[in-house]
Amino acid sequence: MVREADQLLVADLDLSDRMTIDTARAVLAPHRQAGATCLFLLRDMSSRSQVQANALGATEILPADASVAELLDKVGAMLAPSAQPDIPAQLRHHFVAASAALSDLIGAAETGGTLPLKAIDDSIEALNRAADGGDLNAWLDMVWRHDDATYQHCLLVAGLAAAFAQRLGFREADRRLIVEAAVLHDIGKARIPLDILRKPGSLSLAEREVMRRHPGIGHEMLVAQGGFAPMVLTAVLSHHEYLDGSGYPHGLGGGDIPDPVRIITICDVYAALIERRSYKPPMPPGEAYAALVAMGGKLDRDLVRVFGEVVLDSEIVRLGRYGSPVLNRAAGHAA
Ligand SMILES: [Fe+2]
Ligand SMILES: [Fe+2]
Repeated sequence: MVREADQLLVADLDLSDRMTIDTARAVLAPHRQAGATCLFLLRDMSSRSQVQANALGATEILPADASVAELLDKVGAMLAPSAQPDIPAQLRHHFVAASAALSDLIGAAETGGTLPLKAIDDSIEALNRAADGGDLNAWLDMVWRHDDATYQHCLLVAGLAAAFAQRLGFREADRRLIVEAAVLHDIGKARIPLDILRKPGSLSLAEREVMRRHPGIGHEMLVAQGGFAPMVLTAVLSHHEYLDGSGYPHGLGGGDIPDPVRIITICDVYAALIERRSYKPPMPPGEAYAALVAMGGKLDRDLVRVFGEVVLDSEIVRLGRYGSPVLNRAAGHAA
């Protein structure tokens, strides 16, 4: 099963079986911690199995019945020095830990089970330690490798919130609360019908009404389970509220929207803009930030300015990659 674990780990797995998943997680853990590159050969290429493989730390995935030529091609490409991602092993470790914890959390939410507090804690810890590393772009690079939109959004909003809370100089306890709120903010979507949640193209009025129930549903789920901090409950319920009263579900005004909620909303709006979704191309970071600024009084201007330091500082370094004149304009806004 394992060959030259320091370089490349090849796992041949049937991830439709829960026991195999648990065993694989335990067996693979030390290799993931060592930052091993993992090729998963899947008996079942369903999107659920692929999401699970990603959560277990797959770098690449092939069907188990791939030809020998395909397998050798893939292994060769993965071992080529240029294919090694320029991502520190420690950060990759935090990402895999957060992904695995989110897999447990979202799985429990979808099946109506009790939300696993340990998984929530593990994800918060991994996200905050990743933010300590200060490399948001490397985090984003890893997020884009997830092909499941729910995971991608959750990892993205939580990664942004962790970086934002760190930039704001919050103490550890407050950073944990912000990240917990970000991890859980859309948990109510687990109860929204998949044909609405994953619908390519825009939603009908009736579908949008259903979709707009997710903050209330998430809030109810957390209240029913009990034990969640009031601020986390508020953030889950109110993350789609805007300061000018134009948001939902209650059309709250600025005075009723506390700072932690404003922080989650900014991360959520920005994430939705830069995400790759089936019905829209991703917006470059500079354009997305400019769109955020253009929302004016809907969002907290002071927080948006600091958020610009979080998402644009490092992007400016990558101008060679994006080369967007809009990015320069947005960067000027942030200054
Ligand atoms: Fe939401
Ligand atoms: Fe969201």
